[in-house]
Amino acid sequence: MARFARPALVLRDLRVSVAKHTGECHRRERGLSGGGGDAKQRAARQAQAAGRPTAAGCDVSNRSLHGVDVEALRRRLVSREATVGVIGLGYVGLPLVGALAENGFTVVGFDIDAEKVATLNSGRSFIRHIPHEAIAGMVRSRRFRAVTDFAELAKVDAVLICVPTPLTRHREPDLSYIVGTTESIAPHLRPGHLIVLESTTYPGTTREVMLPILERGGLKSGRDFFLAYSPEREDPGNTQYSTTKIPKVVGGDGADAVALVAALYDQFVSRTVPVSSCETAEAVKLTENIFRAVNIALVNELKMVFAAMGIDVWEVIRAASTKPFGFMPFYPGPGLGGHCIPIDPFYLTWKAREYDISTRFIELAGEINTAMPRYVIERLQRALDERAGKGLKGAKVLILGVAYKKNVDDLRESPTLKIMELLEERGASFTYHDPFVPEIAPSREHPEFAGRRSVALTPETARGADAALICTDHDGVDYRLLVEHCPLVVDTRNACAHAGIEAGTVVKA
Ligand SMILES: NC(=O)c1ccc[n+]([C@@H]2O[C@H](COP(=O)([O-])OP(=O)(O)OC[C@H]3O[C@@H](n4cnc5c(N)ncnc54)[C@H](O)[C@@H]3O)[C@@H](O)[C@H]2O)c1
Repeated sequence: MARFARPALVLRDLRVSVAKHTGECHRRERGLSGGGGDAKQRAARQAQAAGRPTAAGCDVSNRSLHGVDVEALRRRLVSREATVGVIGLGYVGLPLVGALAENGFTVVGFDIDAEKVATLNSGRSFIRHIPHEAIAGMVRSRRFRAVTDFAELAKVDAVLICVPTPLTRHREPDLSYIVGTTESIAPHLRPGHLIVLESTTYPGTTREVMLPILERGGLKSGRDFFLAYSPEREDPGNTQYSTTKIPKVVGGDGADAVALVAALYDQFVSRTVPVSSCETAEAVKLTENIFRAVNIALVNELKMVFAAMGIDVWEVIRAASTKPFGFMPFYPGPGLGGHCIPIDPFYLTWKAREYDISTRFIELAGEINTAMPRYVIERLQRALDERAGKGLKGAKVLILGVAYKKNVDDLRESPTLKIMELLEERGASFTYHDPFVPEIAPSREHPEFAGRRSVALTPETARGADAALICTDHDGVDYRLLVEHCPLVVDTRNACAHAGIEAGTVVKA
């Protein structure tokens, strides 16, 4: 059962040690004093003399096996002289590269996609909310270059891994990217490397899956190289919380690994939060995403109940949010999308089976959220029937927004693609308007929509549809024009109300 217990570590002691250890270390490097330094140093000396972990000092173990000087590595990280490798230059990896480079690190980006690597080296971005100039600036200043050759790993001090963690066709964790990446690192692993997994995954991945691959060549984690897990909390498109403003949870395989990973992140994020193990850090990320999945399912269920009662769930949430404690607003929608919330919870479901535990909350939330596109189609069908005396079959529908959330160009797991599939299944035809997605890229689930192009939102396109269906509430879309010219608007995001538009032709779904 308790697969994570490592007899060499007393977790409670480590937690206390690590939290104080890294926090204190951080303050001292920045020239900040928490006060009482002498007393702390005295306590540290006494603790050391008693053979306990030092809570007040910030020294790493400073052993020198295989020539590894841990304290020297920590100093390189703190002084930002270290070169950092980022593997996987996507929605998570690329902002991380930016945060590191902006804060004085030299960064080498690794990706298996040669086209992405060439694009980045030519100073261009392939992610809409990351401007070309941000990439061009890093390349010009020689703070960043991208490569496909993993032999370059030998030149970096720390490696941060941000590769995909999807589900397989059978909805089980697909660790092939993590395993592939670890296999690519292994031949180039050298004494003194700090390896950090950032991809979202189930508790145990770092130590049960990665560690044996990395140790195959004879180097030992915690002695020769350092292995850690720090979940990425990136929220693409969120202008309030960019990479550096989001606290970073860090867990490591041993105290040196935690101290080193915290020393690195302390240089460019607002706060690091050390926890007692890699497994705890892995569980933190899943907990955050399960919390969202379950709460979104709850409001989606409430939406259906309240709609049947003639109550507007958006008004209910707005009023409930005035309670200053014990309530946190979540919002309904056409279903879950993106790389995280529809997928990550099932990493825990899979792992829980190993312990004979079923994750009923997660399954139920998944069931409710997955049913949302069908609910939206039913609402659309009913609205057409009641308001236009028309069936869904043969209806022309103008879809607003195909990206899975507002103001991003990411289509992964977008519920709009499912809605499109259902519309065609029922004999309706559709066009779509999405300023962030000019053309639908090929996807495994919906190859049939690849190449479809966004139409302009004009009085003519709005008038030409029997109904418009708002699936994503991007900013900058002219919802007023839509409502003025389209005979029926079915709104899954409350976008019209948010734009101050009230009209009898708008139906919430
Ligand atoms: N997108 C988000 O909002 C978000 C937020 C938090 C956490 N995460 C997690 O971060 C991880 C990465 O997600 P993402 O959205 O950045 O994915 P992404 O698909 O945008 O980027 C992944 C990149 O990794 C590259 N890659 C794949 N296999 C590789 C390999 N073996 N070696 C080198 N490069 C390889 C791909 O070419 C791609 O460029 C996932 O675990 C995800 O769950 C994502």
